[in-house]
Amino acid sequence: MRVALDQTAQALVGHHKGILAADESTATIGRRLAAIGVVSTTETRRAYRHLLFSTPGLSRYISGVILYDETIRQSTPDGTSFVKLLEHQHLLVGIKVDTGAKPLAGCPGELVTEGLDGLRERLAEYVTLGAQFAKWRAVITIGAELPSEACLAANAHALARYAALCQEAGLVPIVEPEVLMDGGHDIETCEDVTTATLRCVFAALAAQRVELEGIVLKPNMVVSGKECLRQAGVTEVAERTLRCLMRVVPPAVPGIAFLSGGQGSEEATTRLNMMNARFGPHPWPLSFSFGRALQEPALGAWRGVAENVAAAQELLLKRARLNSAAVAGAYTGEAA
Ligand code: 13P
Repeated sequence: MRVALDQTAQALVGHHKGILAADESTATIGRRLAAIGVVSTTETRRAYRHLLFSTPGLSRYISGVILYDETIRQSTPDGTSFVKLLEHQHLLVGIKVDTGAKPLAGCPGELVTEGLDGLRERLAEYVTLGAQFAKWRAVITIGAELPSEACLAANAHALARYAALCQEAGLVPIVEPEVLMDGGHDIETCEDVTTATLRCVFAALAAQRVELEGIVLKPNMVVSGKECLRQAGVTEVAERTLRCLMRVVPPAVPGIAFLSGGQGSEEATTRLNMMNARFGPHPWPLSFSFGRALQEPALGAWRGVAENVAAAQELLLKRARLNSAAVAGAYTGEAA
């Protein structure tokens, strides 16, 4: 089992490829569709995901796609399951397995991600459905007195329990502790909190006997809070993000795939490129597992209209190609 996990993890982050996160919960995709004037129904969600997954040539730049529970059970109009379509497209199949971030008792303003109860059985079903990797997102909020030790510990423990269960089931766990960009905090604070969060996560992974060779880490980049008056530039973001990762992430980890977390598409690509172009080599490939930063242009071009599918797919392919170039440190701007 160990060998297979290693290989899947390496395939997810190797060859300058990244991951397409298309695992928005029904509530989240509902907000994204509402923003383009589309009513969220089983059918519109299916049509949008079909657009994404059938994009010609996507596997040149994308290794795998993360699905939501509804999506892994859906099919194309001709009855081909999405799992089969992705296999045909040479894309690995991933599945979001947490059940969302809920208020953490005793810690006002903080969240803990749920979904451990019954997880072993759910993972077994996802394996039979064709999943090869999984995702669990923990959310850490920065505030005046936040995050608390209790929040970091609870989320790290849950991530580690999830990761151990995934490896037992033969799935590569994507370990995603996201320190949110929301707030007026400065980049120093984001660096401190991200470092503390990752320290806690790697201690918990060790305690739960997770094999680091068979995970992919999905962290936030170290950035200024969205409402911070001083927005750090691309070089500072790259330097601080790498300093944080170099201090905490063991070289046994096969790869790091950043989330985009609300950064603009071009901003995310530029920052990823800076880390790879100016500051390499690193102990691990630095790649991407973007949701919004890959999908936003395509979603805006589609607007629920069948005639727009090809144009939307071109925009998805373009962002995938430019982010793959950024993994190689070869992104030279949007025109390329
Ligand atoms: P964003 O890149 O939009 O943050 O989404 C990535 C993801 O999978 C969040 O869990």
